[in-house]
Amino acid sequence: MEVISLHHLLKTHCHIPDDFTYLSAIDAVDVIRQREYWLRQFIPLKVIRNIIRGLARSNTVHPDTAQALYNICRAIKTDCVFETGTYWGYSTAYLAAALEDIGNSGKVYTFDLYSHAGKYIPKNLRSRVELHRGQPSTEMMPKVLEKVVPDLFFQDSLHDYEGVKSELEIVAPYLKPGAIILFHDFVEPNVQRAAIDVLQNYAIYVIDTQDPQQLGCAVKI
Ligand SMILES: C[S@@+](CC[C@H](N)C(=O)[O-])C[C@H]1O[C@@H](n2cnc3c(N)ncnc32)[C@H](O)[C@@H]1O
Repeated sequence: MEVISLHHLLKTHCHIPDDFTYLSAIDAVDVIRQREYWLRQFIPLKVIRNIIRGLARSNTVHPDTAQALYNICRAIKTDCVFETGTYWGYSTAYLAAALEDIGNSGKVYTFDLYSHAGKYIPKNLRSRVELHRGQPSTEMMPKVLEKVVPDLFFQDSLHDYEGVKSELEIVAPYLKPGAIILFHDFVEPNVQRAAIDVLQNYAIYVIDTQDPQQLGCAVKI
């Protein structure tokens, strides 16, 4: 599997200008969260950051992946993102922050089995997020696809072959050329195999990050 840098992906597939500025998604979202803390004026940003990271340590995306989600979403200037696997809502918040910074009326449509998923999406970003909870993604996504089609799909719910394949088979037929699918846990051979088997007319890469779980990327040709 070819490994490419985030910059190369953005340059080749998103046609970013030479002076494209990479923004820190982590700072953008943590500053929003800090404003929403009752003791915000007394606690330094660094401390708040460590507390929330500690609470959500497991199963939440690595900072490099958060950064990639935010910058890819911003670069393609989409107004519709799908995400499977909301969990606390950390990755959702990075995607929502990108939509907020693009400044259109875009939304993240996020899907999770867990009925309380998305608890830590900052209040200021909630209008950017449509939460679909309590059922498997494969049951909830078809209804949403009747009204909106994503340009970006972040897959981070199931990581077994059948689970990834069944989500791709629902979303992929709707995607237009240039659309991007990102996969967390691309280090899992099952995730890679499902992507290769279903996404025949896609360029598939690993994005070069420090995330040990790896971020996979498929661009529709
Ligand atoms: C790895 S966590 C997602 C982490 C999140 N993307 C983040 O970075 O903060 C996986 C989530 O997928 C959800 N999940 C598992 N199977 C699912 C399914 N079939 N449909 C929808 N959500 C599912 C779980 O409830 C869990 O919240």
